[in-house]
Amino acid sequence: MAEGRFITFEGIDGSGKSTQARLLAERLRAAGGDPLLTREPGGSPGAEEIRQLLLTGDPSRWSAETEILLFTAARRDHLEKTIAPTLAAGRTVICDRFADSTRIYQGATRGDLRAMVDRLHDLMIGREPDLTFVIDMDPAVGLRRGLARRSGEDRFEEFGLSFQETARHGFLSLVRDNPDRCILIDGNRSEAEVAAEIAAQTEARV
Ligand code: ADP
Ligand code: TYD
Repeated sequence: MAEGRFITFEGIDGSGKSTQARLLAERLRAAGGDPLLTREPGGSPGAEEIRQLLLTGDPSRWSAETEILLFTAARRDHLEKTIAPTLAAGRTVICDRFADSTRIYQGATRGDLRAMVDRLHDLMIGREPDLTFVIDMDPAVGLRRGLARRSGEDRFEEFGLSFQETARHGFLSLVRDNPDRCILIDGNRSEAEVAAEIAAQTEARV
C-alpha cells in the first residue's frame, strides 16, 4: 500500500494554524478522505504528558537546550505511536506544528542552536513532511489572538513580542530555504479565504 501524505502547518503563535489544519481535515473528509488531524507537542498519550511540562509554568523553567530534548522526545513518541503507523496505513496525516517549530523556536530565537537541533533531528526523527504550510502574520496580532484564548498553555507567549518577531523571520527564511516543501500563506485574511488557498494548493501539490 502507498504511504499516506504528511502535511504540516507552521507559523507563529496565533497565526491560525489550528483553525486551518482543522478546516483542511474537514475538507478532505467531505471529499471522501480519512485524514488524521494531530498536533505537536502532543499527538500521543506520552507526548501529551510532555506537552504539559513544556507549555505551562515559568518561561525560565527550561533552557533552550533542555527544550530541544523535550520537544524531540515528544516528537519521537508521536512519530512512533501515531504518525508513522497512520502514514503506513495509507492515510493522510495533518499535523499542527512539527520539526520546523524546533528549528525556529529552539534553534534560532535564543541564540544559534540550529546545529544541535539538526543533529538530534537526524538521529531521532529523520523524517520531513511532504508539504508544509507556513502561515505568516503580524506578531502583535498573533500574540493578541493567542493570549485571548486563555488556554493556560502560554509559556511561549510570555516570552513577548520581540521573541515572536524573531520567530516570524525564522519562518520566512525557512520558506526561502525549502521552496519545494514549504508554501507561504498570508494569514491576514478571513478564515475562509485562507482555507480556500490552502485547499487549492493541497490539491495541486498532493
Ligand atoms: P494558532 O494555532 O496558530 O495559534 P488558532 O487557529 O488557534 O492559531 O487561532 C488563534 C485565534 O485566532 C483563534 O481564536 C481563532 O479563532 C482566531 N482566528 C484564526 N484564524 C483567523 C482569521 N483568519 N481571522 C481572524 N481570526 C482568526
Ligand atoms: P501550540 O500549541 O501550537 O501554540 P499556538 O497554538 O499558540 O501556536 O504550541 C505551543 C508552543 O510550543 C508554541 O509557542 C511554540 C512552541 N513550540 C516550540 O517551541 N518548539 C516546538 O518544537 C514545538 C512543536 C512548539
